[in-house]
Amino acid sequence: MTVHLNTAGAGLMPSSVVEALCGYVAEEAAGGSYEAEQRYAPVLEGEVYRILAQVLDAPEDDLALFDSATRAYCSVIGNLPLTAADTVWVTPYEYAGNLILLHGMRRRLGLRIEVVPLLPDGNVDLDWMAAHIHDGVALVSLPHVPSGCGVINPVEEIGKILAPWRCFYAVDACQSVGQVPLSVAAIGCDLLTGAGRKFLRGVRGTGFAAVSPRLRSAVRLPFFDLQVADMVADDAFEVSTDTARRFEFAERNNAAVLGLNAALHHHASRTDDRASGALREAVRGAIEEIPGTRLIDPGTRHAQIVTFLHDRVTPEQVRTGLRARGINVWIAQGSHTPLYMRAQQVEFAVRVSPHYYNTDADIEAFAVALRATLN
Ligand SMILES: Cc1ncc(COP(=O)(O)O)c(C=O)c1O
Repeated sequence: MTVHLNTAGAGLMPSSVVEALCGYVAEEAAGGSYEAEQRYAPVLEGEVYRILAQVLDAPEDDLALFDSATRAYCSVIGNLPLTAADTVWVTPYEYAGNLILLHGMRRRLGLRIEVVPLLPDGNVDLDWMAAHIHDGVALVSLPHVPSGCGVINPVEEIGKILAPWRCFYAVDACQSVGQVPLSVAAIGCDLLTGAGRKFLRGVRGTGFAAVSPRLRSAVRLPFFDLQVADMVADDAFEVSTDTARRFEFAERNNAAVLGLNAALHHHASRTDDRASGALREAVRGAIEEIPGTRLIDPGTRHAQIVTFLHDRVTPEQVRTGLRARGINVWIAQGSHTPLYMRAQQVEFAVRVSPHYYNTDADIEAFAVALRATLN
């Protein structure tokens, strides 16, 4: 039996997700893919957006589905008409994919990118934000929980600081949705992006965005696909909707969307204590008791992502040693959270990310395997 402690990579799909995914593919194979799509239209065009709206606490019209969180972020932010007069704020926790997009825009458009400082304890400096925000800031972007460590950023408090200002506010919820309670309405963000495959336990190749009407009307899309646009004359087209569906393309992996729908329902009907940090503390304790380990653990509020190094054994050796003992962990690449990890001089670290399906026995097995690997 494998103990899966790599939900920050991809979570284990519940059986309802596997059944939705495989059942749909089987129907496509038996009776035709377009015909299956027609049969499932109420789910593909309606239900999946309704349940996503419920899970994110966002209006249905604001939601769009993508094939990754990065695609969601790039499809919206990449089409914002920013100029050399604009400043973008990121934090040291920003995800590398988002940074690559923003720095590409900086090169093309001449905008400025500023990094919001952290306090010595690793929390984002909210006083600095409140004191320095000005109307030249066009976009503030930060992850709710970063890729490389478990800090939970105070996205609601930041939303309150930014609310009176002109800037758009983008929250990358890729690592938080499904493990940290979140509400787009309470955060007050213009954009929230996420992936289906991690703590929501959905399918690979699924992502989504909640895009506010204010942000939708600012974005200049170069193209609208045929689910929302029509050629109404030989040289003219019309777009039929103002909803966020205009960010989507017409062709998509319907089996994956049905799997996402099942994962969202599964998540919405969970009755366990979503805010529990017990697993994280148990993982942390198992690591800390071994001499030579160093946790990368900034901030005061933490999700179930624990990252660490050992002074003698490399992260890759730890991963391999644990895998041989039936435990899945992953490598946090410093280059994926480059600003923070570079400052900590971390190139690679071991990332352990339990989820509610892990038991105390799983964490005990991890502790035993880790001791054996590091001794
Ligand atoms: C914080 C964060 N943002 C964005 C992403 C990108 O997600 P995707 O691979 O679905 O594009 C990841 C992926 O691990 C992530 O950890």
